[in-house]
Amino acid sequence: MARVAVVGVGAIGGAVAGLLQTAGRHEIVLCTRRPLQGLTVTTPEGVVRVEGRNLTDPALAEAVDWVMVATKTYDAKGAAEWLRRLAANGAPVAVIQNGVEHRERFSPWVEQDRIVPVVIDCPVERQRDGAVLQRGAARMKVEEGRLGREFAELFTGSRADIEITEDWNSAAWRKLCVNAAGALNALTLKPAGVFGIDAVGRLAVEMVDECAAVGRAEGAQLAEDVGQQVVNGYRAHPKDSVNSMLADRMAGRQMEIDARNGVVVRLGEKHGIATPLNRMAVTLLRVPLPPGAYEERVNVAR
Ligand SMILES: NC(=O)c1ccc[n+]([C@@H]2O[C@H](COP(=O)([O-])OP(=O)(O)OC[C@H]3O[C@@H](n4cnc5c(N)ncnc54)[C@H](OP(=O)(O)O)[C@@H]3O)[C@@H](O)[C@H]2O)c1
Repeated sequence: MARVAVVGVGAIGGAVAGLLQTAGRHEIVLCTRRPLQGLTVTTPEGVVRVEGRNLTDPALAEAVDWVMVATKTYDAKGAAEWLRRLAANGAPVAVIQNGVEHRERFSPWVEQDRIVPVVIDCPVERQRDGAVLQRGAARMKVEEGRLGREFAELFTGSRADIEITEDWNSAAWRKLCVNAAGALNALTLKPAGVFGIDAVGRLAVEMVDECAAVGRAEGAQLAEDVGQQVVNGYRAHPKDSVNSMLADRMAGRQMEIDARNGVVVRLGEKHGIATPLNRMAVTLLRVPLPPGAYEERVNVAR
């Protein structure tokens, strides 16, 4: 049994809390900004009701054994407010987010060796507060090591599919290649079907090639044809599937542009690698759509 706090109970935090619940032996603390009226996770195997204590004030948190952070990357500072008390006794902090900078993002608040970076693949969405729909398996990748193994053990008994890898860096960059190309959905305001257009597919390959070149300079092992693999993956998705960048842009919400494309530009500069397509995506996606345009755009995108 462990006391496990989940900071940020949206789509991923909800799915992770559901998996911890099905593991059947943990005390779960749900840390949110607004009160939760219960948490129900609908999975392909059935509905899980999470029996967790809900806190909305970081000042009332008590020390736990493990913290799982599942906010958006741009909410790291707010998430960190929970860590002072939750991790007061040295609890490891699993960062379950996209991007490749999990440690860098939280190192202002937590010692690097207590941060457990996690790559997650899980088709899940928040339906409304307290209800999460998980459409498929949760696959996570953590680094080999004591904390990576302890993290995986927390989920024993659940349906989480956790790979402990010696080369987490490559896994994170491989996922970033997929996410970097996803900016094209937000730019065109079109779901996955847009990758079926040949010229868009070619652009996506070039965008991923920039990301992969930077990733290799950062030590990641990535296939030469990773760009084409990514495009083939998008073409295999249902044509109307909407990624989170597109969903966020259409809803007028903040996007994880910096963690997905900005990082390619920033680290590209560090290594002297040109990343013009990712730079263009970052620049254009920072230009807000006109006020009131969002609802209209939903129909355009379908
Ligand atoms: N969804 C997916 O299918 C998926 C798949 C793979 C990876 N990811 C990655 O997983 C991460 C989480 O994404 P998500 O889709 O789960 O996002 P999400 O549904 O927006 O959930 C994030 C949650 O964090 C909460 N939050 C923000 N600041 C907080 C704070 N200071 N204290 C407590 N809670 C706070 C938000 O609260 P409010 O409700 O108040 O806004 C929201 O409930 C991202 O990096 C994303 O790219 C997502």
